[in-house]
Amino acid sequence: MKDNYPLTGQLSAPAAQTLLITNVRPYGEGEPTEVFIEDGAIAAIGSELTETHSADNTIDGAGSVLLPGLVDMHVHLREPGREDTETIETGSRAAAKGGFTAVFTMANTTPVTDQPVIAESVWAKAQALGLCDVHPVGSITKGLEGKTLTEFGMMKNSDAKVRMFSDDGKCVQDPQIMRRALEYAKGLDVLLAQHAEDSRMTEGACAHEGPTSAKLGLHGWPRVAEESIVARDALLARDYGNRLHICHASTTGTVELLKWAKEQGIPLTAEVTPHHLLLTDDKLRTYDGVYRVNPPLREEHDTLALRQALLDGLIDVVATDHAPHGSEDKCVEFEMAKPGMLGLESSLAVIAKIFVESGLADWRFVARVMSERPAEITRLPGHGRPIAVGEPANLTIVDPHNSWVSDSTQLASKSENNPYEGEEFGARVTHTILRGRLTYNLATDGAASLAQEEAK
Ligand code: DOR
Ligand code: ZN
Repeated sequence: MKDNYPLTGQLSAPAAQTLLITNVRPYGEGEPTEVFIEDGAIAAIGSELTETHSADNTIDGAGSVLLPGLVDMHVHLREPGREDTETIETGSRAAAKGGFTAVFTMANTTPVTDQPVIAESVWAKAQALGLCDVHPVGSITKGLEGKTLTEFGMMKNSDAKVRMFSDDGKCVQDPQIMRRALEYAKGLDVLLAQHAEDSRMTEGACAHEGPTSAKLGLHGWPRVAEESIVARDALLARDYGNRLHICHASTTGTVELLKWAKEQGIPLTAEVTPHHLLLTDDKLRTYDGVYRVNPPLREEHDTLALRQALLDGLIDVVATDHAPHGSEDKCVEFEMAKPGMLGLESSLAVIAKIFVESGLADWRFVARVMSERPAEITRLPGHGRPIAVGEPANLTIVDPHNSWVSDSTQLASKSENNPYEGEEFGARVTHTILRGRLTYNLATDGAASLAQEEAK
């Protein structure tokens, strides 16, 4: 167990009133400028603010890229129930380190987040820490059992203001339950997120069904297990629902279905994980349990179709599906390993590598798929907003030319199931700012800096 960041007490101390960020390029565009923050909001943007504005604290942006704070629609912070693998505190630190100012934590905790009291405790704990806005996702069915709908209304009206519901980790198999959930969600205007997996087709499966699984002797998870549910739910959303979000799209066929659904005007949105964009089932040749994930890593043509779909807007957002697991569940035979991999601390670098460093897209695109669209889809006020005067100061600074090597022993997360161990990246989050407060600073790596700032 890691205990890199000994603090908590100081976190609720009053924030510094003013912060000046010098030498940054909003969205990586134009000449470097300065951003003055007061009482949690952007108060001025301009090139000579240093002369006219005196600030309690200053960050030298060193010519880096300034983005709206990142928003992750899909993480697992494991509290309550598996605090040995991640807690709201360690998960929040990992989020801040990855550049996130808001995350949505899934309901597959123990107990399941199927009641307001559990959602409220997650929300309150994270707010007291002040490192990241952690929004609890409510489950669609009680105990994730797929049988009885939870009280969406009570969770929405609770202090946690639950705005998304999902049985993620499990698929809502029964089409009639899914229909009723969509009808219920429509009345309350909340978002449903489906983990698309026909479980009859994935019994005993631990790898993508294809040439690699055949060669390695691993039981395969066919694409159709995902695609058949995406198709079914697109039709249900057309006839009974309003909004429906597809978690972790992983196949070329899912992309084709999303294209069809969007052409029909069906209000379907979708996410893709960094690992499904970067990695393929070729990684399974080592039989290393770190690469077991649901849905499984697929083939190269899937990764290419997913990349193009994100560029074209058929897939709306990047979401990490950050899924911490301890070594007792990962350093075992591949078939026995629990599915899931870490993502919060590497996602920005992975997306920069695939899209920005290759020239496929720019930082505006990164802002769209990792901040603006996730905040729009979840209807999250205050996040994913333009970098403009009067807007909340939820911001991320990224050094686009900072090469670093992923090292699982240096993570803020409590777990080490990092699929990028030893991989070199070219971009790095240097600072994260939540409502004008510094929640991450690479120079001092983490909360130590926040404690120092707060003590000033
Ligand atoms: O690989 C996964 N791990 N996929 C999921 O849907 C759930 C997650 C977890 O909770 O570990
Ligand atoms: Zn998940």
